[in-house]
Amino acid sequence: MARTFLQRSDQLREAARKTHRGIFLTGPNRIELLSDDLPESSFGGRDYLLASLGNCRCASDAKAIRQFDTHARVPTGADRIALGHETLQIVLQAPAGSKVKVGDLVVITPGHASEPIDPLQFAPVSDGVLAALGYSYRFLGGLRQFNRIPAGAPDFVSSQGFGNLFNRVTPKHDISLVSLAHAEPFACNYGTNKHIFTIDQHGEFAYGVPPRAIVTYLSGTARMAMINLTIVASVADDELPKVVYVTGSKSKLDEMEKYALINDLRERGTRMVLVDRKDPAMLKKLTEYGKSDVVWTNYASQQTYDQAVSILAERGNLNSYAGAVDPELLINMPIAEAPVYSSLEEEVSQNFWAMHHNKAPNNPARYRGLAREPKVGFLGFEGREDRLQAYLEKLPVGAHVFVEDAQQLPAGLVKVEDNTLLTDVFIGGTGRQAENCYKAIEPCLARSAAVNFIDGNLTVPIRSRQAHYVSRHQICGKNVPWHMTNTSEPHSDDMIEQVNNPVSFDWMVKGVCGLSSVPQMMERVEHEQPFGSFYSFTELEDLPYLEISAEAFRKASDSKPEHVSNALTEAARELDSNGQCWSRKVEEALYQGYGLPHPLNLS
Ligand SMILES: NC(=O)c1ccc[n+]([C@@H]2O[C@H](COP(=O)([O-])OP(=O)(O)OC[C@H]3O[C@@H](n4cnc5c(N)ncnc54)[C@H](OP(=O)(O)O)[C@@H]3O)[C@@H](O)[C@H]2O)c1
Repeated sequence: MARTFLQRSDQLREAARKTHRGIFLTGPNRIELLSDDLPESSFGGRDYLLASLGNCRCASDAKAIRQFDTHARVPTGADRIALGHETLQIVLQAPAGSKVKVGDLVVITPGHASEPIDPLQFAPVSDGVLAALGYSYRFLGGLRQFNRIPAGAPDFVSSQGFGNLFNRVTPKHDISLVSLAHAEPFACNYGTNKHIFTIDQHGEFAYGVPPRAIVTYLSGTARMAMINLTIVASVADDELPKVVYVTGSKSKLDEMEKYALINDLRERGTRMVLVDRKDPAMLKKLTEYGKSDVVWTNYASQQTYDQAVSILAERGNLNSYAGAVDPELLINMPIAEAPVYSSLEEEVSQNFWAMHHNKAPNNPARYRGLAREPKVGFLGFEGREDRLQAYLEKLPVGAHVFVEDAQQLPAGLVKVEDNTLLTDVFIGGTGRQAENCYKAIEPCLARSAAVNFIDGNLTVPIRSRQAHYVSRHQICGKNVPWHMTNTSEPHSDDMIEQVNNPVSFDWMVKGVCGLSSVPQMMERVEHEQPFGSFYSFTELEDLPYLEISAEAFRKASDSKPEHVSNALTEAARELDSNGQCWSRKVEEALYQGYGLPHPLNLS
């Protein structure tokens, strides 16, 4: 049996040359276990070669399975896409000069592109995709046994603002593979919380969940919400949220009453309010102790978005965590009438100052004013030539401009070309008129764009899908009630938090399987919608799908090949001794039964 990372990676590198298996998206609502080969060029030493050790299911996988190539990250016309982005892998080959070496255990930063790229080349192209691990590649995914990554990918990913593509894991004696694979969802939540901003009493941006905040997790019985709450709870007692509201189904909330996380927060002084999502008095209960400074949505529906809008405090933040598949789902933001200014000049300078943008694509910090390379749109200025001229005159030389009526632009300004994405948009007019202008311009917003309703007095119909994946724009101005946050692209710095100082998420593990049973696992979980994490072991390929209990393991051990039966019997014993909770020891028993070293026990 291999004892060292190097011995194991030698064995795996040999296997990588042969036909091997993976779970692939192959069409709308279709995933398949297929055999595949890596291109011969993968083995020349120029590219990275990795073996997957396992992968956790993410609810977003289900979204990609449903949508297939209409998903923003799945290339149009793809025939097979390797699934899985919560993965732990071992490096089998690394180009000279790279930051990782053969034998390293790594977790992979999943967001790779903040502009459309060709996923085979890691190069920007206008008809490309926002490529990400588990959504965009045939030869790379948590659920294929062996993976090939082009040599230039790490530099490209870092240039796109996501940090290091590979994050080295230093094995600790008691952490499980499954908890380590939570580096991705951990980072997703850690990062999304870093991107939250509220406006403090001095009008300044305040980042993160404010101390002593009132917060709500809508559909907070979700796995991601519990990971998020774990992070929110890891502050000093005097900074903990005053109130945490959680909505969900009655049965899952009843379970939640027993979670150590919830009881610990109560003991530390946080008021935990669990509200049945079918309760007709739900909105009243969600505001009983005050409106929320931060609301996370964990289920994409019109009802959820409307609830979020009703319970948000002034100057708070809506973290639209669950991005909608359906482009018609709207976050309806009420915008008040704009302030009255003493002069047109003052109006223009105040409205320019009110715009704000991320300092860089994946940087939570914001700066005020127009974008650095402004491409500015003006809508709803009909009959107000003087007003339009006042805005145009204030633009910096070289700014690109979109105006509805092509007219003479002041010298130094450039008319935008067709299909240009706008960084800053000013919309005049109120009510339906302004709403229609917004609807028309929303698909033309650049990432981190700012939109300012300079007259206000309307409800802005923000398409959740648009705000989630594509533009992440902000509505700006003194008349804006709250702001929005979303990140579905964890940064490597946040992955490292979990890797270097891992929090155990073993209590969340509710099911495991081997690679071949992933389709059954996905189908069961999708159908039953249970709480928890579901992990697949790549190396324990024929392990059946199992719920986490000694009884289920023993039952499954009947009529299985001897190695599987032994593995399950030993693992059941460990579950019995650990209150039926997942642990590193359960994993070790399974690996032992399969005659394989547990990857974290290699030296
Ligand atoms: N932004 C990102 O970067 C990012 C990353 C990962 C995941 N996500 C998204 O975040 C969401 C949560 O992910 P997860 O893995 O935690 O999912 P999950 O565990 O499957 O949770 C989904 C939640 O939705 C609730 N729910 C089911 N039907 C509902 C309905 N009709 N109305 C209201 N709530 C309902 C369920 O609660 P009850 O059964 O108790 O009602 C459950 O708690 C997903 O939409 C996922 O795609 C976003």
